[in-house]
Amino acid sequence: MRDWSKSSWREKVALQQPIYSDTNALKQVEAELGKYPPLVFAEEVKSLKKHLADVTEGKAFLLQGGDCAESFAEFNANNIRDFFKVFLQMSVVLTFAGGKPVVKVGRIAGQFAKPRSSDMETFDGVTLPSYRGDIINGIDFNKEAREPDPKRMIMAYNQAASTQNLIRAFARGGFADLNRVHSWNLDFSSGHDKYEALSQKIAETLSFMKACGINSTTNPNLAQTVLYTSHEALLLNYEEALTRKDSMDDKIYDCSSHMLWIGDRTRGVDGAHVEFLRGVENPVGIKAGPTTTVEDLLSLIDTINPQNEPGKLNIIVRMGADKVKDYYPKLLKAVKAEGKKVLWSCDPMHGNTFKASNDYKTRDFKNIVAEVKSFFDIHKAEGTIAGGIHLEMTGKDVTECVGGGQNIIEEDLGSRYHTHCDPRLNASQALELAFLIADNMKEANS
Ligand code: PEP
Ligand code: CO
Repeated sequence: MRDWSKSSWREKVALQQPIYSDTNALKQVEAELGKYPPLVFAEEVKSLKKHLADVTEGKAFLLQGGDCAESFAEFNANNIRDFFKVFLQMSVVLTFAGGKPVVKVGRIAGQFAKPRSSDMETFDGVTLPSYRGDIINGIDFNKEAREPDPKRMIMAYNQAASTQNLIRAFARGGFADLNRVHSWNLDFSSGHDKYEALSQKIAETLSFMKACGINSTTNPNLAQTVLYTSHEALLLNYEEALTRKDSMDDKIYDCSSHMLWIGDRTRGVDGAHVEFLRGVENPVGIKAGPTTTVEDLLSLIDTINPQNEPGKLNIIVRMGADKVKDYYPKLLKAVKAEGKKVLWSCDPMHGNTFKASNDYKTRDFKNIVAEVKSFFDIHKAEGTIAGGIHLEMTGKDVTECVGGGQNIIEEDLGSRYHTHCDPRLNASQALELAFLIADNMKEANS
């Protein structure tokens, strides 16, 4: 590998970074974080990479999702539990439909920093720095809140550590028991003709397994799961401070999370974000939007994954329902022709955002469904693997995206619009989407 160190990104142009006025305070925070324990363990990162290699080869499916931006204000056990619950429910539906394991990766325990379309924001004639996520500044529109504060990195680390702790407890402690997760799904699907049939089939399969003596006592796996973590590696000071050499294999891991991704705005091949992530062992995601060219993508693939290792690289395609058919096939064909081992997943959120007539930023459930369907169709036509899905979602009953079975309309958006950034699917919309993806998966297998 060309010369790399965990600070070599500092020689490159780093887009979307805050300007900290107190550089001494910044250095102190970096030194402090550098002493803190890692949030994830290298062996876990390696096992995620193996699972993602299975996804790349069509032997598993990737479900990645969570908040657009985690916030300090919404941090509590119930929110984590409710997210975990709906994520497990989705994963049971997808496992059954696809007939293969689902690799679960949350946008959680570190998803705090947000890229913005503009550095400044003007409101009522007052101009202030834009909100960049709770790890950087505050969302309130006043001068003090909007000043970037490096101490927020410590607060984000602490929140990520407690979140990770609860996730591990839920995953191992019985909350994830398959029978219990399925009973939640029955509650959701009863009365929904479209989904009841699939739920009934899962119920029959579980009774059959029980009759054969396969239960969580005889097979503890049925009561346990693994939820990996991921976030956008946007704030490079934080990522560098948590990057460590593993004492067992002497390799370098970004221990802030199992998987990291690079956003659509910071994926320049000569930029600081690509420079940083090319040197760590973690699986890396790259967002690809309508402005991504074949040349961009091929050089990013060569830079991040020069060994062509399956499981290392996930291209997260976020074109928009109206563009995906025009822009995606040429990227897919070129990467396929070069024989690059890439996990392709579909983010049907970021290309489908619009402003409602009452000014709320929203997304329409039917566009989300349409982009997912096109993604599967394109892979079927190309004979390639539709590997996964990447969603912004919550376990709460928010009103941020319009449509879905609850038929949320623009007038409803104000009633429970809680996101700190982009609009998320609520629990019911997320689960409904899983049932619809199940149909796409069955068709892909047919
Ligand atoms: C995101 O995933 O929250 C995000 C900002 O996405 P993108 O980089 O694709 O716009
Ligand atoms: Co977002």
